[in-house]
Amino acid sequence: MKIVSAELVASAAKPAHFPLEDLPEVAILGRSNVGKSSLINSLLGGKRLAFTSSTPGRTRQINFFRINQRFFFVDLPGYGYAKVIRSLRDVWEELIRVYLSERRQLKVSILIVDSRIGPTHQDLQRVGWLQQKPLPFFIVSTKADKLSRVELQKSLKHTQSLCMKAPVVIYSAVHGTGYDEVWARLQPYISMRSSQS
Ligand code: GTP
Ligand code: MG
Repeated sequence: MKIVSAELVASAAKPAHFPLEDLPEVAILGRSNVGKSSLINSLLGGKRLAFTSSTPGRTRQINFFRINQRFFFVDLPGYGYAKVIRSLRDVWEELIRVYLSERRQLKVSILIVDSRIGPTHQDLQRVGWLQQKPLPFFIVSTKADKLSRVELQKSLKHTQSLCMKAPVVIYSAVHGTGYDEVWARLQPYISMRSSQS
């Protein structure tokens, strides 16, 4: 995918801050520190537009990145970070729920899991939730560079068996593994008009 332009258009702490643009959106979900921002940066060819950090829980708003003036990557706050105070966590949860349930521009979601750990209980709750919705999604199993080939095969089988039929793409933001497959999966959605579903 040739990236001509990529810009952070909005950091939304509430739905009123969501951009008004009528372009298709790709949502990136996953546990805190799993590699959501790194996936976006990697898909943009290493532009480092999405802020990455080794400290979990740094993405506190919903960040909307407009790509090639044609679609958005939407970086959602990570879940499962214990040190975030409860009231703040509830606010994020509600913001994410509103975004995922009500955003008309949302066309496809990517749920990221850590290939070394596999889907956690909270990941599986999200998968169950996504499977009940008409919206398409797939799983990206990231940090593949940390595993051997044999371990990766085991991890893939484990993730596939737990996530019941959801497609799983093995990824490494370090090596670019899975880059072509993720873009190929996104292609039909990012060329949609926002009014299509
Ligand atoms: P929050 O926004 O805090 O929820 O985190 P995030 O999900 O956006 O994670 P982020 O992309 O900031 O990555 C967290 C850490 O994992 C960073 O130290 C990254 O360098 C590392 N990381 C992400 N993807 C990969 C990968 O594919 N391989 C390796 N080895 N490290 C990765
Ligand atoms: Mg992040």
